[in-house]
Amino acid sequence: MPKVTTLGQFIIEKQADFPYAKGELSRLLRDIAIAAKIVNREVNKAGLMDILGQAGSTNIQGESQQKLDIFANEQFISALTSGGECCIVASEENEDIIIIDPKDRKAGKYVVAIDPLDGSSNIDVNVPVGTIFSIYRRKDFDTPPGLCDVLQKGTEQVAAGYIIYGSSTMLVYTTGRGVNGFTLDPSIGEFCLSHPGMRVPEDGTIYSINEGYYMHFPKGVKQYIKYCQEEDRATKRPYTSRYIGSMVADIHRNLIKGGIFIYPYTAATPSGKLRLVYECNPMAFIIEQAGGRATNGDKRILTIEVEELHQRTPVFIGSKNMVIHAEEFMKEAI
Ligand code: AHG
Ligand code: MN
Ligand code: MN
Ligand code: MN
Repeated sequence: MPKVTTLGQFIIEKQADFPYAKGELSRLLRDIAIAAKIVNREVNKAGLMDILGQAGSTNIQGESQQKLDIFANEQFISALTSGGECCIVASEENEDIIIIDPKDRKAGKYVVAIDPLDGSSNIDVNVPVGTIFSIYRRKDFDTPPGLCDVLQKGTEQVAAGYIIYGSSTMLVYTTGRGVNGFTLDPSIGEFCLSHPGMRVPEDGTIYSINEGYYMHFPKGVKQYIKYCQEEDRATKRPYTSRYIGSMVADIHRNLIKGGIFIYPYTAATPSGKLRLVYECNPMAFIIEQAGGRATNGDKRILTIEVEELHQRTPVFIGSKNMVIHAEEFMKEAI
C-alpha cells in the first residue's frame, strides 16, 4: 500500500524549507484547503442546491455573478478571517480589499489575493471550475495593513496555488520550491499528495485561445494561430486546439500535457481580460516554478508593476518553448 501523504503532513515535512514561517503559512494553507473542501462539496452537487444560475448581482469586474461565485467568495473570506493568519483578503469579487480586524487576527503576517471561483460561466454546464490564490507577506508592520500590501509585484509572492473542481478535485501549489499536486480523497476528506514535483513539458502541441475573438486579435497572435494550424510533421503540426473557458482547467491541462494558453489584448480590451493580481500572478508563479514561462507577450508577468487592484494583463503562459515562439510572432508582427 503506497504511503499516503496528506497536505498537512507535507507542509509540516517541508516546513523546514520555509525560512520564516513558524507554522503560520502552514495554517494559512490549511485554512484555504478547508474552504476548498466546502466549496467542492457544493460544486459537486450544485444541481441539487439552489446555487446554480445567476445571483442577479454584478461584481466590480462588471460581470453578472453566479450564485456559486458568491458562495465561494463567502467561504474563502470567512475561512481566512477566522483562521487569523492574514491581515488582508483581496477578492476578485469585491471592489475593495477586506482588512481583517486586529482583534480577529493572530500575527496576521500574510495577505491573500483570491479568485474564489474561476470559470464561472461553466458552472451550469458541469465543466471544471477552480479557485486561484496568491499569498504575500505584509510589507511592513509599522503601518496598518493597506492597499500597498496587496499591490506587490508577482515576484514577491511567498506562495500561490489553485484548486480545480474537476473529475477529481486537486489542490496544486508552490512556495517557491517547485510545484506539488494533491488530490482530494473524499472518503477521508484529505488532500493527498498525488503529483509530486510537477513540471511543464518544455514543448507541447496544444494551443488554448478563444478563437471566437480572432478578428480582434493582434496580427502576431493571428499569425501564431495560423502557424499552429499548418501541416508540418517535423514540428508535429497542426497542433490541437483545446479551450475550456476556465483558466484553471486550461492551464492545469497544459501543466500536465504541455501547451500554451493565450489571452491576448484586443483593440477593445488593450489590457486583455484576465486579472493580474487574482489570476495571472499566481498562475505565473506556479508555471515558472514548474519550469514553464509566463509573459504578457513580451515581459515576465511576475515583474509587471501592480498599480491597481483589478489591473488586467494579456497573458501567454505554459510550455517554455511554445511561449518563446509565440512571443517571436508578436515581436515580428510589430
Ligand atoms: P472568472 O470566472 O473568475 O471571471 O474567470 C473567467 C476567465 C478565465 O477563467 C477564462 O480563461 C476566461 O475568463 C474565459 O474568457 P472568455 O469567455 O472571454 O474566453
Ligand atoms: Mn468573474
Ligand atoms: Mn477567474
Ligand atoms: Mn472568478
